[in-house]
Amino acid sequence: MRNIMRVYLLQSPGNIAKAVLEKIKETLSKVENPVLGLATGSTPLRLYGEMIEDYKNGGFSYKNVTTINLDEYVGLDGSHPQSYRHFMNENLFNHIDINMENTHIPNGVAKDLKAECARYSRLVTANPPDIQILGIGSNGHIAFNEPGSPFNSTTRVVDLTESTINDNSRFFNSIDEVPKQAISMGIADIMKAKSIILIATGTSKAEALKRMLTAHYAEDSPASVLQTHRCVSIYADESAAHLLPKN
Ligand code: GLP
Repeated sequence: MRNIMRVYLLQSPGNIAKAVLEKIKETLSKVENPVLGLATGSTPLRLYGEMIEDYKNGGFSYKNVTTINLDEYVGLDGSHPQSYRHFMNENLFNHIDINMENTHIPNGVAKDLKAECARYSRLVTANPPDIQILGIGSNGHIAFNEPGSPFNSTTRVVDLTESTINDNSRFFNSIDEVPKQAISMGIADIMKAKSIILIATGTSKAEALKRMLTAHYAEDSPASVLQTHRCVSIYADESAAHLLPKN
């Protein structure tokens, strides 16, 4: 099958959020029981803001939508302000008409983490997202698949690298509070999505974006796996795209 990778260079994160929302609405409205794969981090925040505004203005309804998030910190339960469950509730789910029972995020405090990972992987296999939203870490990670993650990995507990712990420490009171592990959808699970939208904004993502698009497909650059997905769209702003070849 031919791989299609489209790169959209837009002026600002605000323009990207609007364009991605339109794509989501267009795709999900064609499907009876749509599945939307969601990400955390600061990158998708504007998109979630647009989704909320659109919904409040009588736009798209999420009543029939199922969402599947990429990852969760090990050791944080959903009431912890830095858990990804809390993040998603606060920044999106509490403000739209989605049925909370249809929103899925790994349980970071499950007694049996291995069983939780296996359950989550089965969930993704049974409900491959019609669109998966992705951000990218400054070291090229997707979800919490750090450099070196096997491309055939499914959902599992991963150790976070020092650079990711550093990047994410801005959300915590101190770096010591940042969990050292997470449950992350594996690369093979992410690749099950029918289409993928990766958003990269800001200069801190420029190197990772360049590597993803121009480096060889290799496990030391997790996002490079997307070169082999059948339908990927990259939305980048000028700062994130400034290292890309001009042609
Ligand atoms: C975390 C998340 C990723 C996200 C990355 C980048 O590591 N697990 O899904 O893409 O952060 O975050 P930000 O968008 O804040 O730069």
